[in-house]
Amino acid sequence: MNTTKISKEQRRTDALERVLGNQVIIVTGASSGIGAATAKELAHYGAQVVLAARREAELAKQVDEITGAGNHAVAIPTDISDSAQITRLVEQVVERFGRVDVLVNNAGVGWQVPFADESVERIDHMINVNFRGAILATHAVLPGMLERRHGAIISVASVAGHIAISSMYSATKFGLRGFMLSLRRELQGTGVTASVVSPGYIRTSLSSGSRFPMPGPDVVARTIADLVVKPRREVIVPGYYVPLVTLSNSLPGLVDVGLLATGATPSMRKKR
Ligand SMILES: NC(=O)c1ccc[n+]([C@@H]2O[C@H](COP(=O)([O-])OP(=O)(O)OC[C@H]3O[C@@H](n4cnc5c(N)ncnc54)[C@H](OP(=O)(O)O)[C@@H]3O)[C@@H](O)[C@H]2O)c1
Repeated sequence: MNTTKISKEQRRTDALERVLGNQVIIVTGASSGIGAATAKELAHYGAQVVLAARREAELAKQVDEITGAGNHAVAIPTDISDSAQITRLVEQVVERFGRVDVLVNNAGVGWQVPFADESVERIDHMINVNFRGAILATHAVLPGMLERRHGAIISVASVAGHIAISSMYSATKFGLRGFMLSLRRELQGTGVTASVVSPGYIRTSLSSGSRFPMPGPDVVARTIADLVVKPRREVIVPGYYVPLVTLSNSLPGLVDVGLLATGATPSMRKKR
């Protein structure tokens, strides 16, 4: 049993080292949580990782940890809600490394506020980071990938992009999934792939308000690394969310009751 486990892990390591070695990979939202764990995982197997996010001190800390372990990483501070900064990010990576092999669209914000209480500014902000930022970053790296007939786009959506749980957050994640799943079809036969990873609750600053039990970000980081080796349409992680997604698609009325009873969906009823 142990020998089987070891050899499975060894096979994974071999495949990751073979595919990731010297790949130039941009991870957005890499200053904390899932993005930081993903940057570490990819660099561990030999990738040259570019960490992009706004907080420079946090980015520097993540880069120090990666390079301190003998792996390769650089930080390029970037606000993904700003199209000029996205263009500059991709230009700088191409100038420095010659190409982008993989883009991980991970930057995201999330909060649970009854929709009627949202301001227009906050609505715009969530769309610009979670949805428009990922689309524009993809748009910026795609021509080079298509020219070289090689590349992978991986976007971090959410189980909340399958189960409508919070109006603005779910809108951006359903939208991101729609974009990626369509893009995947458009890209068939080009050598460029598009995959979605949809995490359930993961222990990061984004989920700090939630009382549900949850694993740490490494589980998503591993999934993302595996998607570079073996692109797939979509992976829901942890796997125990798959039956919930199926239930939500087949019996949405039952899920309405559960989500409101647990407080997972904000209700406007009490306040008005
Ligand atoms: N944690 C969960 O339960 C969960 C579940 C499903 C999906 N997700 C998704 O996973 C992704 C990562 O979130 P996380 O859980 O790891 O939370 P996190 O620790 O708060 O990380 C969010 C990352 O996004 C970056 N970011 C936010 N606004 C940005 C902007 N304008 N420009 C560039 N980067 C920006 C943050 O960096 P700066 O603040 O330094 O810019 C940070 O690095 C998000 O897309 C989130 O929706 C999370």
